[in-house]
Amino acid sequence: MKPIKVEHPLIEHKLAILRDKKTGTKEFRELISEITLFLCYEAMKDAKLHEVEIETPLTKTRAKMIDENDYVFVPILRAGTGMIDGIVTMIPNAKIGHIGLYRNEETLKPVRYYYKMPKGIENKQVIVIDPMLATGGSGIDAVTLLKEDGVKDIKFLSIIAAPEGLIKMQETHPDVKIYCAAIDDHLNDVGYIVPGLGDAGDRIFGTV
Ligand code: PRP
Ligand code: URA
Repeated sequence: MKPIKVEHPLIEHKLAILRDKKTGTKEFRELISEITLFLCYEAMKDAKLHEVEIETPLTKTRAKMIDENDYVFVPILRAGTGMIDGIVTMIPNAKIGHIGLYRNEETLKPVRYYYKMPKGIENKQVIVIDPMLATGGSGIDAVTLLKEDGVKDIKFLSIIAAPEGLIKMQETHPDVKIYCAAIDDHLNDVGYIVPGLGDAGDRIFGTV
């Protein structure tokens, strides 16, 4: 499935500040949340609505709502957790699962260290969140784990994606729709996205 690059002048503006190495921890976290709002907004465009009856101060009327409990957002630890704030601002009752993966610095291969999902995950719409899709290793492994758990409906939100990671994800999981705010130029020889923003986890948590 072709990735969706979410385009908006405000996203470009916020990305410019996010990428800047002079941007500090507080602002970096805020920008991650704000850009996540836009990605979430776009990814929910095809959300199912059901009719409800409500009463305005003037009259009874019918209105439409989503079922917030249908959605599980799954941050990939650690940097993905920086996106939770933006998600729960939009969908306050969304369930959150966690997947812990880290990259072996030498092989660049993901290693799993944590996996906890809400009950009934197999019948939910699952949206994996991670600010960076670089080689695609972590994202692909996270999606594979979810599919092994019976999940059929998976989307992937990332702030910056590399062409290499997008191709690999599309080849391995063609059914997963990817939403991103930027598609960058390339990966460098240690798997970092160029121009990118550096190490997302380190910049969110101030561990640089
Ligand atoms: C980063 C990022 C992704 C992964 C992307 O996490 O948040 O999970 O790298 O790279 P990939 O597409 O090549 O797998 P990292 O492994 O640095 O861990 P962290 O979130 O704990 O900093
Ligand atoms: N992980 C990051 O945090 N940044 C990159 O550029 C690549 C992987």
